[in-house]
Amino acid sequence: MTKSSKAVRGASKTARGNTTIPADLERFLSDNDPRIHNELFEFLRIPSVSANSDHNADTRRAAEWVKTSLDKIGVPAKIYPTAGHPVVVGEWRNAPGGPTVLIYGHYDVQPPEPLELWTSPPFEPTVRDRKIFARGSVDDKGQLFLHVKALEAHLATRGKLPVNVVVIAEGEEEIGSEHLASFVEEQKKLLKADAVVISDSSMFAPGLPSILSSLRGLAYFEINVQGPKSDLHSGSYGGAIVNPTMALARILATFHDKDGRIAIPGFYKKVRAWDPKVRKQMRSLPFDDKTLMKETGVAVLGGEKGYTTLEKLWIRPTCEVNGLLSGYTGEGAKTVLPARAMAKVSCRLVPDQDPAEIEKLMKAHVAKVAPKGVKVTVQHLHGGRPWRAELNGPIYDAARRALRAAFGKEPVITGEGGSIPVVGDFERILGAPVLLVGFGLPGENAHAPNEWMSEENFRLGMRAMATLWDEYGATGSS
Ligand code: BES
Ligand code: ZN
Repeated sequence: MTKSSKAVRGASKTARGNTTIPADLERFLSDNDPRIHNELFEFLRIPSVSANSDHNADTRRAAEWVKTSLDKIGVPAKIYPTAGHPVVVGEWRNAPGGPTVLIYGHYDVQPPEPLELWTSPPFEPTVRDRKIFARGSVDDKGQLFLHVKALEAHLATRGKLPVNVVVIAEGEEEIGSEHLASFVEEQKKLLKADAVVISDSSMFAPGLPSILSSLRGLAYFEINVQGPKSDLHSGSYGGAIVNPTMALARILATFHDKDGRIAIPGFYKKVRAWDPKVRKQMRSLPFDDKTLMKETGVAVLGGEKGYTTLEKLWIRPTCEVNGLLSGYTGEGAKTVLPARAMAKVSCRLVPDQDPAEIEKLMKAHVAKVAPKGVKVTVQHLHGGRPWRAELNGPIYDAARRALRAAFGKEPVITGEGGSIPVVGDFERILGAPVLLVGFGLPGENAHAPNEWMSEENFRLGMRAMATLWDEYGATGSS
């Protein structure tokens, strides 16, 4: 890690003009490293599973924990109720004339199940091999918290920040951020900023800092197929009754053609052609199909013909089954014709697909292909728009310098297959550029058992973000 030779106010420059981590901030972060880790572990112990109402009190406790952690560093925060889980907003606005940044993160986590596949319990953070294992370690508590500590480094060492800061932490990201867009709309004035900064994604490879230029959107469905009024003896009735499980299988099988293209009519109508320059730049990233095969434990890759793997992941839409439920799945055999079958299906979307239009297309398609003899319903659970940025402007320039200072490497521009629903809303409602700079790593097991965050990235992430505020503040853009 680079260190500047003397304590300076503001981003320091080496003789070659390269930014380095300001020495006072570096010292604060290293001196306080054990305490910072203890605090993070406290946060990770709260099982704030937004999807599960049994955890509503825990989710609330996580919101309070975030509020207190902001209050303690001198960024007074308030908890705003919503129709779902609350939003926490902290404000520090004592840099007159300086730019204002909005830092977003989420304090909710995915359900930890299946529990038996965790090496150490999901809500007992454990360090192995310089990785912090816990549900939410990387998605997104560790990444939200590193921002809080970067702010603390400034406030504790200098009593001030070079930029005005608003921190917003939500508790519904993992369930689609249903109430956040209206909150942003209602609180436009409170959240108004010159730039939005979010760490809820990953670096392209270890040691390679990354700035995201795109996210996919989402349209998530539940498909229910109802057959007979109750389960039936599969010998007495099988053969004469339409089997709902088979009917569902037939429906799902119509979603793709033999080349892996989505066969729902109209699905690609709004897909924007990608700039050949961006595709070329993607091809220059150090990526190898074999690494992905090893990471995921598969022998061959699948998907749409005619695209590279990164293109399939970042710039092409998908339609995937996320879960299936039907019939007898217990031990041994039970001869039964199930009364119903259910599938959870999610489509990842790319610019300019619109979740509401995809919902219409999906419903029309399923209605058309549904076999006679069963009742099929399609429910749209939640959605989010895809996002893409050009990455020009002072916040991106400052981020490049800050990442280079912390990681000793020029950041790469990447895309992402996942979704962060509020990103498009921030851009649309606040009119501010969004910088997505994440510190996760490939293989981090987000949403899966044994999720981890690299200790090194947690540390470098704090330093990069602390440096970013000096760099962005120095541009004076407000
Ligand atoms: N941190 C992720 C988004 C993400 C995923 C970024 C993969 C980079 C790589 C976020 O917490 C997430 O999981 N989002 C959900 C959103 C959905 C529930 C609307 C997703 O992508 O499934
Ligand atoms: Zn997530």
